[in-house]
Amino acid sequence: MDIIDPRIEEYVERFTTPHEPLLAELSEETARELGMPQMLTGPVAGRFLEFLVWVSQPKRVVEIGTFSGHSALSMAAALPDGGHIDACELDPERAAFAQRYFDRSPHGSKITLHVGPALETLERLEGEFDFVFIDAEKEGYVGYYEAVLPRLAERGLIVADNTLSSGRVVDEAPPIAAFNEHVAADPRSVQVLLSVRDGMTLIRKA
Ligand SMILES: C[S@@+](CC[C@H](N)C(=O)[O-])C[C@H]1O[C@@H](n2cnc3c(N)ncnc32)[C@H](O)[C@@H]1O
Repeated sequence: MDIIDPRIEEYVERFTTPHEPLLAELSEETARELGMPQMLTGPVAGRFLEFLVWVSQPKRVVEIGTFSGHSALSMAAALPDGGHIDACELDPERAAFAQRYFDRSPHGSKITLHVGPALETLERLEGEFDFVFIDAEKEGYVGYYEAVLPRLAERGLIVADNTLSSGRVVDEAPPIAAFNEHVAADPRSVQVLLSVRDGMTLIRKA
């Protein structure tokens, strides 16, 4: 199911500032070398993430699910001085690919890539998080949410990607639906599900 009319999607992309040449190159090489380019946040959702970081000015960002590095680099571009991203990726080949692009970017030194299961990485990281982007396997979202919510700063923000699951949430029961219901029923948080690309939910503490 198309969540948004493809002509509207095309229009939205046309009137959004395009991503930087390095990110365009990353996207092309991702499609060629790794496949599954639909996993990338892409130019519109990537720009949206960059805006969220630009507005909220987080010092500590955690990304859960880095793939080839598009979203991490989009966020890194808007970090304030002293801001840092801990990026979690399970797959060593994808992590190596992302690291090559981090090394080429003027913002890459703001990102530390942790290779391995994100829940284990989260346990090793200390302190509070100002901004968390959840974009790994959908079956794990409830566990990631439960791991990060108690550690979210008072004015912190969680962004969860793919919360519309290509529209399947409406009449099927994809794994993300359980996450959406879990968050909606949680009195500890306030959320808004936006129909940006494949659905992005913004969550803060109540
Ligand atoms: C949708 S992709 C991430 C896309 C990326 N955020 C972007 O915008 O370009 C999901 C990634 O999560 C990774 N992943 C899956 N399970 C994971 C886990 N338990 N811990 C860390 N990463 C995981 C996958 O290997 C995959 O690369």
